[in-house]
Amino acid sequence: MNLPGYRLAASDRGSIVELTAADSPIVISVQITVYFSPNHLDELELRDKIVVVIDVLRASTTITYAMRAGAREIIPVASVEQAMKIVGNLHSTSTILCGERGGKRIEGFQLGNSPFEYTEESVKGKALILTTTNGAVALTKAKYARQCLVSSFVNLSATIEALATIEGIASEHLIILCSGREEEFSLEDATCAGMLITRLQSRFAPAREDGLQHHLSDSARAALSVSRQYGSDIYKTLIESDHGRNLIELGFEADILAASQIDSVPLVPVLEQTVIKKKLIFSESLKLPVEERGPIHDPRKPDRAPSGMRKEKVI
Ligand code: MLT
Repeated sequence: MNLPGYRLAASDRGSIVELTAADSPIVISVQITVYFSPNHLDELELRDKIVVVIDVLRASTTITYAMRAGAREIIPVASVEQAMKIVGNLHSTSTILCGERGGKRIEGFQLGNSPFEYTEESVKGKALILTTTNGAVALTKAKYARQCLVSSFVNLSATIEALATIEGIASEHLIILCSGREEEFSLEDATCAGMLITRLQSRFAPAREDGLQHHLSDSARAALSVSRQYGSDIYKTLIESDHGRNLIELGFEADILAASQIDSVPLVPVLEQTVIKKKLIFSESLKLPVEERGPIHDPRKPDRAPSGMRKEKVI
């Protein structure tokens, strides 16, 4: 295995793979671009890119809760019709329809889009067909990505660690795709994107005076600026945002509080083409061990286990 800046610490504990940060920081030249909405974004633009999809309120947060609760897989789809069609084709009692329109559970669907609905009792071992107004749409745009991680405040640091396991991240073009709101900019996603960039800088290039500045697109610089302005009190930012106010009206204030809890769920769902099956689970201290399936590999290359690591089956 060749993950710059990492050492393989142990490999003989079944599905547990441990990675620890080596002494020297990774020297990276990753390019970072932020899209503030998936609107007008052609899915081919994300082809072969490393993509992080953010929908703080609430799809990314909910997906992370659902994977923690043991959902077998989550299939994000853009429309209610598509969701019904897929569930009809699957004919399985362990497949459930989930999602919202206007923030509310869709009629006839088993679950809405509140993270609190996604308990072990409701989702463990099940396949979830999920359609949401913005987040699911953004995820469908990433189907040709080389890797796609689902991120929000609840797994912010875990996202950084997950990025660090991607082969070749040092010289990649990272796209942060904010789901936005109703095809527009959303403050909460932009703030989260900016905080992600800040953490990337301190994780990977702490010694560089300019951080990663010269690798940032204008959009990435704008996200950084938003996060400096709005990132000090996330809960306040969320409740005062357009979408936050709407969720409060609908009675989902607890969801906003949950979504504002930085690093409360150290787990990163991974979208592979059209399905989220894989999750990287980090220890509470985020130092890794990574429970689950080892580093992320480039699907374009043969699926090989790095030397000293066992190749794990993904459930
Ligand atoms: C979305 O994807 O549009 C959101 O998650 C909406 C919501 O808060 O349910």
